[in-house]
Amino acid sequence: MKNKKILIVDDEPAMRKNIVDLLSARGAQPIQAENAEDALLQIKIEQPDLVLLDINLPGRDGLSTLSEIKRILPDLPVIIFTAFGTSQRAIKAMKAGAYDYIEKPFELDEFLLIIQRALDFSELVGEVKELRNIVATKTSGEEEQLIGSSKQMREIFKIIGRVSQTDATVLIQGESGTGKELIADAIQQHSLRSNKPYIKVNCGGLSESLLESEIFGHEKGAFTGAISQRQGRFELANGGTIFLDEINNMPQALQVKLLRLLQHQAFYRVGGEDPIKVDVRIIAASNKDVESEVNAGKFREDLYYRLNVVQINLPPLRERKEDIPLLVWHFLKKFGKRKDFVVPAEEMEKLMNYSWPGNVRELENVIQRTVVMARENVLTVGPLGSDLKGEEILSYIAGELKKGIGFKAIVANVEKELILSALNNTGWNRTKAAKFLKIHRRLLYSKMKEYKIQKRFFEPAEKN
Ligand SMILES: Nc1ncnc2c1ncn2[C@@H]1O[C@H](COP(=O)(O)OP(=O)(O)OP(=O)(O)O)[C@@H](O)[C@H]1O
Ligand SMILES: [Mg+2]
Repeated sequence: MKNKKILIVDDEPAMRKNIVDLLSARGAQPIQAENAEDALLQIKIEQPDLVLLDINLPGRDGLSTLSEIKRILPDLPVIIFTAFGTSQRAIKAMKAGAYDYIEKPFELDEFLLIIQRALDFSELVGEVKELRNIVATKTSGEEEQLIGSSKQMREIFKIIGRVSQTDATVLIQGESGTGKELIADAIQQHSLRSNKPYIKVNCGGLSESLLESEIFGHEKGAFTGAISQRQGRFELANGGTIFLDEINNMPQALQVKLLRLLQHQAFYRVGGEDPIKVDVRIIAASNKDVESEVNAGKFREDLYYRLNVVQINLPPLRERKEDIPLLVWHFLKKFGKRKDFVVPAEEMEKLMNYSWPGNVRELENVIQRTVVMARENVLTVGPLGSDLKGEEILSYIAGELKKGIGFKAIVANVEKELILSALNNTGWNRTKAAKFLKIHRRLLYSKMKEYKIQKRFFEPAEKN
């Protein structure tokens, strides 16, 4: 609960003080209110992460205060204090949208547990919102240009042209950063449904139950925290297109539900009893070969056949190097420097010879970093990426040791570079970066803090 802002609403000063001490000792930032009016004001100003509300406040009724809080910030979790044995009020409070309730006097462990759960919940809600915002900004922007003159890309452009005139399901496969989302956008923009809703869902990075309610929606009371009925992504996409990103990460149970949806053009909300009919065009993307996932038993074969009506395989950038110069010019223009920038032949050669494990996204990041760091209008690419492998890493470490740099500092440096390159190669998506590094997100956060890694931390990817 470190740094979490928790509002305590109670008319007894001694009670407030106890809780404040308890929570500040655990790193939280408690704030207080002694009555409903004060509480509502604090909520508007402070936007706390959690509210602990005594339902038996003098003056304004506790339940109506709760409803008012939910009206101001619907996702803010509220835990209610009730007097022992007043279950009726507790039930009413839960119905009015309380996250949970605690009976006074309470046990310390239980109290802390409930608070932690509520904070975890609000963090998840926050993440879902963040995802939604990303989608909103990406779809409202102007049309992104799709660059490529290689044979493979020209072939893909043709397929895009053909499939956009149909409602066929498309499965786009390719390594991370090859431009799968851009292809999906292009199909949608050129399709008969271009003026209809275009909804994106990332099937990785969310827990199964959150993802399920994200995709299919839920009825009020379907699970703890299902405060009101919510439409899922498929409902929002009705008449238009849905982009199911990272489809390979969809949990098996949801794969079954998706298959049913594809078979019947209908689905159920979580906790719902009436089927909902929809007309949605599906574009799915995977950074793994889905057929291999099927063979490995990780992806349902029947779903794969349903999705795989048209398949687009985006080759990695190292297999279409002739696209690199065009992309370089495109990104120079995108970052506003095209006119006055000179790209020396040997620099272009360096870019052409590199293997681009992070594909177009990595190239984009390199160009952006170079442009920002450039002193003159000459493109000078620093040493490229995490191309260090096996023996090279060992010899790098040996070199550093010789220079008198200590083991710990070297390891820290390598760690930092790994994290930076993972972040750069995933568009600073921390969930993806953590997955890429195969570490827990929390560890990534704490390492980022430790090394003070922030977005726009421009530094050569590797020090000489
Ligand atoms: N052909 C291209 N022309 C111009 N920009 C491109 C092209 N391909 C990719 N990009 C750019 O590279 C970045 C990564 O592309 P995108 O997000 O579509 O990749 P992705 O395949 O979905 O990656 P991931 O699997 O990591 O989600 C984006 O900023 C995108 O605009
Ligand atoms: Mg993507």
